[in-house]
Amino acid sequence: MTKLIAGNWKMFKGPAETLAFFDGFEAPDGVDVVLCPPFVSLEAAVGEEWPIYAQSVHWAADGAFTGEISAQMLVEIGVAGALVGHSERRQLFGETDDTVRRRAEAALEAGLGVIACVGETETEREAGETEAVLRRQVAVIPKHERLVIAYEPVWAIGTGKTATPQMAQDAHALIKSLHETRVLYGGSVKPDNAAELLSQPAVDGALVGGASLDPDSFAAICRAAASLS
Ligand code: PGA
Repeated sequence: MTKLIAGNWKMFKGPAETLAFFDGFEAPDGVDVVLCPPFVSLEAAVGEEWPIYAQSVHWAADGAFTGEISAQMLVEIGVAGALVGHSERRQLFGETDDTVRRRAEAALEAGLGVIACVGETETEREAGETEAVLRRQVAVIPKHERLVIAYEPVWAIGTGKTATPQMAQDAHALIKSLHETRVLYGGSVKPDNAAELLSQPAVDGALVGGASLDPDSFAAICRAAASLS
């Protein structure tokens, strides 16, 4: 199956840097590519040839929700989908399993694609709770053909620590036993470890943070995925 490589830019790249990225970025055939710029850069990015996802989306169509953006607003400017439940949203901005579910449902209802993120913290892994955490987080994620899950062990995000290919494979196999969907791996994916992670049978792609900011390193990860598809 074709692998999906999604780049999560987090709070990096305004519109000018977004356009500069696309000037330097080329992806090969044989891989699905998605980019997730910050809200203010979405309009600059939607003119490009790849599907553009927001990094979050609110569950209401409109209303008194200062600082939030609705699915309908994203659709209006040509955005194709949204991340929901990224661990930074869960840890820093009070996102819960219930708000993740509501955001995902609203996005799907509006016709958007969704990449829903799950993953255990280091403390949870050390306490032997990984499976229970993944079961709890996955249980609320709606089943839909436009929904993809990203497994991102929190201890591997932005730390340079990557799950071993076997750890990723085991977590993905568990998630797939609960929810029949593509499952991306995220957490310090780089050009030099992408092929090994992506060659695990249950790893259907990657959600890439830091290494998606540079067009050459993101293209290298896309090439690794294309060569395995
Ligand atoms: P990282 O981030 O690749 O920089 O570890 C991944 C993510 O947060 O999606």
